[in-house]
Amino acid sequence: MSLALATTSRPDATGAPFDVDAVRRDFPVLAREVNGRPLCYLDNAASSQHPRAVIDAISSYYETSHANVHRGVHRLSQEATDLFEGARETLRGFVNARSTREIVFVRGTTEAINLVAQSYARPRLGPGDEILISWLEHHANIVPWQMVCEQTGAKLRVIPITRRGEVDFDAFLGLIGERTRLLALSHVSNALGTVVPVERYIREARRRGIPVLLDGAQAVPHLPVDVQALDCDFYCWSGHKMCGPTGIGVLYGRESLLEAMPPWQGGGDMILAVGFDRTVYNALPWKFEAGTPHIAGAIGLAAAVRYLQALGLERIAAAEHELLEYATRRVEEIPGLTIVGTAPEKAAVVSFTLERVHPHDLGTILDHDGVAIRTGHHCAMPVMEFFGVPATARASFAFYNTRAEVDRLVESLHVAREMLG
Ligand code: ALA
Repeated sequence: MSLALATTSRPDATGAPFDVDAVRRDFPVLAREVNGRPLCYLDNAASSQHPRAVIDAISSYYETSHANVHRGVHRLSQEATDLFEGARETLRGFVNARSTREIVFVRGTTEAINLVAQSYARPRLGPGDEILISWLEHHANIVPWQMVCEQTGAKLRVIPITRRGEVDFDAFLGLIGERTRLLALSHVSNALGTVVPVERYIREARRRGIPVLLDGAQAVPHLPVDVQALDCDFYCWSGHKMCGPTGIGVLYGRESLLEAMPPWQGGGDMILAVGFDRTVYNALPWKFEAGTPHIAGAIGLAAAVRYLQALGLERIAAAEHELLEYATRRVEEIPGLTIVGTAPEKAAVVSFTLERVHPHDLGTILDHDGVAIRTGHHCAMPVMEFFGVPATARASFAFYNTRAEVDRLVESLHVAREMLG
């Protein structure tokens, strides 16, 4: 076990913050340089970095136990199956699902939402039915619903947002109604960082018997999530934004709904028996996992969960909140800089524009200084349209970032402003 985990995994009665220098030593990539400067990685909302514990779990699986799962009586296949299904149990515990039958491994949030769109929504929707989303959504929580609307004649309704980047609850109350068949919301906005108070929305939807899907891609790395306490029907997230591998994510679904849904893709592993006349599908969750799964991905993701849990999700949230407040104060000092998204509850994301400087030029100058941020529309073009900008620059923080890195960001922004502004 790595140094930071060894020092932080003990019960922490004082709630003391963790030692960020020790945590940073757990992440090999943070020791590298870019353009002769120490890497300053502030693009965590796009993809976070991996602690040694995750890299080791994946290598160890490939070095000692790789075989296909659910298919062999031989030792390696049994070991791989145990690791894969053990990972499912770890993911179940991570969001407090009732059963591993409710935990479906998918490629990521995008695939999870497409699965629900095609397997839950498509067979149930018809002309005049409505799917309700918000203006804050990532394209992954817009386009699959547009596709299903085209297929069924249903309509997409969009809850407006405010100038601070909050979903407008009163407008929501005006839009949810008789024809609403599903509510699909971001838990945390990727473009602005807004934490949506989803509990209020879920309460209203459930009172009307409307199922709720939450896109938790930006939430799970930053907040403890409990799907039973939330009482949502579907919750989706990706591994690679929470220190896990790319190409693996989870769809949590309420068992009664998953049970009633047809499989989305057909193939091996999702069946119990196949004949040319008739196929009997497998039980949950394998009914939704056609083909050989991303075994190493699931194992790596479970290692990421254990790492985050050992560090303490509450402590992670507290550290990131402190960093967000510091970063917000510091970037506000820069003349001509406007923060886009000023909701009172935010995850560690600062999206901004700088007068007379295109975000892409800004990103390039910052990269020259070894500072990695994302620039562009962040796969949320309607959000950009709402704020009347083609793009923003976005710094997104993880628990391994430091105040010194925020200072470097600010220093580079001053340089960029002098060069281009
Ligand atoms: N959805 C990712 C982001 O916000 C890629 O950057």
